[in-house]
Amino acid sequence: MKTRPTSSVKPPASKPPTSKPPTSKPRIPVIRYTLPARLNHSVTAVSFMLLTLSGLAFFHPSLYFLTMLFGGGELARLLHPWIGVVLAVSFAGLFLRFWRDNRWRAEDGAWIGSLRQVLSGHEENLPEIGKYNAGQKFVFWGMAVFVLGLLGSGILIWEQYFGTLTPVDTQRVAVLVHSALAILGILVLVVHIYAAIWVRSTIGAMSKGTVTAGWAWRHHRKWLREEAAKGLRPRT
Ligand code: HEM
Repeated sequence: MKTRPTSSVKPPASKPPTSKPPTSKPRIPVIRYTLPARLNHSVTAVSFMLLTLSGLAFFHPSLYFLTMLFGGGELARLLHPWIGVVLAVSFAGLFLRFWRDNRWRAEDGAWIGSLRQVLSGHEENLPEIGKYNAGQKFVFWGMAVFVLGLLGSGILIWEQYFGTLTPVDTQRVAVLVHSALAILGILVLVVHIYAAIWVRSTIGAMSKGTVTAGWAWRHHRKWLREEAAKGLRPRT
């Protein structure tokens, strides 16, 4: 029976102990998000989740206990619209950063048409995709509509400042619109988080700011080619 070399076996003297085995491939990181973009995304994500928690607390009496997270019902009611303002400003920052890469391209239609192949992990026969795929573009534009609509309808029902300016009938419609958009936004967020976890190493794109060239080659080859044209350096 062959035995594996143990750690007591020293490397040949000619090789420095830190040298890597010749088979190891260099990991080539591709920058996907800058630090300011990632901070911008974090503020958006945290504010959206705080809004979800405080908003759900007002949605149904059985969820009122969630106001405890905000120091009670009164404080939650006071904070909710201001967190909404933070979300709107923060999302506006994301929008300005990302809208160009979220424009619809010819390959997006083909990507949707081949969704079954995408879901079964066979993207090799699909056309090359830019920085974002069609699914991500739906999330982007969906969130843009929802955040704008939530801000608009939220202002109409913001008693403290706009209560006297808005007729009651308008407020009733605004409450309905606000609730419907919130539910849609939460559903889209669930899909967004699920997709980020499901496509391996995608979370790292946002947490570390980089992806491997392999990940980019597999999922966003057109984008990788564009980045490569700008010049990639392998991390040794
Ligand atoms: C805990 C919550 C969240 C997690 C874990 C998360 C995770 C991620 C990840 C991993 C990416 C990178 C995807 C890639 O580069 O391929 C991303 C991108 C992005 N996220 Fe989130 N996200 C969260 C919340 C949000 C919220 C609340 C919004 C907006 C309201 C949002 C908007 C975006 C946008 C616009 C992008 C760029 C992709 C695109 O433009 O289509 N995210 N997110």
